[in-house]
Amino acid sequence: MTRVANEDAGSTRRARANALGWGRRRGAWDPDDDADVDVLNDARAHGYCVYSHADWAHAYVSADGEHLYEATTAFGSAPDELRAGTLYRVGPGLFERGGKEYAHMLDGDGMALRFAFSEDGESVHFTSRYVRTREFIEEEEANEVVFRGTFGTMRDGGPLANAFDLHTKNLANTNILAWGGRVLALYEAGQPVRVDDETLESRGVDDLEGRLEPGQYFTLGLSEPIGSMLESSAGLGGRAFTAHPHVDANTGYLCGWGWKSQITAKAVEISLWEWDREWNEMGAREYVMEGCEAAPHDFGVTNKWYVMIQNRLGIDPLPFLVGVKGAGECLISQPEEPLLVHLIPRSTARANGDVSSSRPVVAEGPRESFEIHVALAHDGPPLSAGRSTDGDDDDWVTVYTAGWDKLSPGVFLGEWGSSDPWPFPVPTELTPDFNNIPRTLLWMYSVNAATGEVRRQPAPGCEDLCIDHPHVSPLYEGKRECRYVYASLSNEVRVSGPPLGYVRVDLKTGELQKWYASNRSFCEEPVIVPKCNGAKEDDAWLVGLIADHTEDNPSGVSRLVVLDCARIDAGPVCSIPLRNRIPHGLHGMFVPR
Ligand SMILES: [Fe+2]
Repeated sequence: MTRVANEDAGSTRRARANALGWGRRRGAWDPDDDADVDVLNDARAHGYCVYSHADWAHAYVSADGEHLYEATTAFGSAPDELRAGTLYRVGPGLFERGGKEYAHMLDGDGMALRFAFSEDGESVHFTSRYVRTREFIEEEEANEVVFRGTFGTMRDGGPLANAFDLHTKNLANTNILAWGGRVLALYEAGQPVRVDDETLESRGVDDLEGRLEPGQYFTLGLSEPIGSMLESSAGLGGRAFTAHPHVDANTGYLCGWGWKSQITAKAVEISLWEWDREWNEMGAREYVMEGCEAAPHDFGVTNKWYVMIQNRLGIDPLPFLVGVKGAGECLISQPEEPLLVHLIPRSTARANGDVSSSRPVVAEGPRESFEIHVALAHDGPPLSAGRSTDGDDDDWVTVYTAGWDKLSPGVFLGEWGSSDPWPFPVPTELTPDFNNIPRTLLWMYSVNAATGEVRRQPAPGCEDLCIDHPHVSPLYEGKRECRYVYASLSNEVRVSGPPLGYVRVDLKTGELQKWYASNRSFCEEPVIVPKCNGAKEDDAWLVGLIADHTEDNPSGVSRLVVLDCARIDAGPVCSIPLRNRIPHGLHGMFVPR
């Protein structure tokens, strides 16, 4: 009976989608074609991955300079919890130097954004500024590409000009952390760069009180003590810092980690730390991820464990060494190998009252999978499972993560840099073509620390959704009772596409609340801000950044929006238009007054 009902729903959906034009090559609608404009402006197409690559291609056009201005609300007022608070965001913002376009949008130089909300909630003071790393300053002065980028950007002159230069540029373009009086622009293949909390002026590398050794983030494992001296003089043996630290709601501690790759041993050396808000170290742990050549992008923190998912990627370093490819282009997908889940005992577990775990657990997960952004991890089985009666609840760990349902063999991320020609002009070839990219779902992992069993399935209600950048209320990170995940939403038809709206997922029931901005609007990662004295988990605000493309503004203009987490489907309660289009960014953080 259920199957028949599903088939009916499926055929209805297909008929409706075909009537709206779904089934063509995704993104091939031309905004300048009258018939296509009807589809692009038709709200009935929401959820069907209807968009134009002519619009989306502006996502990775360089920013039109740095800005400093006041922006006022178009409607609504910023709620109390945002007033006098500050939203920081960062993303790649510059994609060429001296007339030479970078090789990949992820090689874009970081641009930090600051939105300072006014006391009355009627405006924001907006600042955008490039993160001026040492490399950025040198390239700015030379007005040419001087350093190699991670994903293939090279100096002019071919391999002869790039071979055996192992220094890659710190792009400072991935995340921004505001903690304990510091604002740090993060890049996982480099060290944090401190920026001024008001002006965003760069203040140099922050080595976290000497925890991050200088140099490129890999070691050749040469005999000591000569090995360290040789590597240090060659600019190697350094330690990078994750772009995804987490604040654990159970302790209030910042949890983060540094890493270096042991090239010859094929292992990643990881140092995990926890800090209070004064940057006092509250815990530390060393861990070596054996058989691993590329550090995880994100991780989760439960009361007992640090949870790291090791995607299966190998490295073929020769093309990097001889100056033919960037280091990131040398990553080779290994879909035939099972993904590994590492449960690393948390250094502060004793403080949390949980001392049962003292040995790391490495559990095999599915093949052909790739996980990227962790929304939440907690001890115990999933919320949707209720409480079991067999007494093994304490053995389970649950992780919700965005990930691909298909990891293809070959060069990792290679498809992110390729596109077939479009039937209209595009401002840059750097913007990824979603026809070549796997879709991203919200996955639910259940891991048994005692038996090593790993179960992976779509999170409740998420079987058809393409999402990314999932987050929970910061008051609920690491807690099993956490019920709601918020994410940017692309579509509901199981295909890869740009983010066109936001979704709230009820992890207990699978109920969804969805809101689409429009088929010509691209939505960045949501940042969740709890309401003051909120009694319920969804007493919170979702702060989003959206780039709208219209007939009047075909190259796009950005706006800041605020949605009520209890009514995502009602759309924004406040909208603050900006004057310019901001390149599609990555991650951010809100600091209350
Ligand atoms: Fe990320």
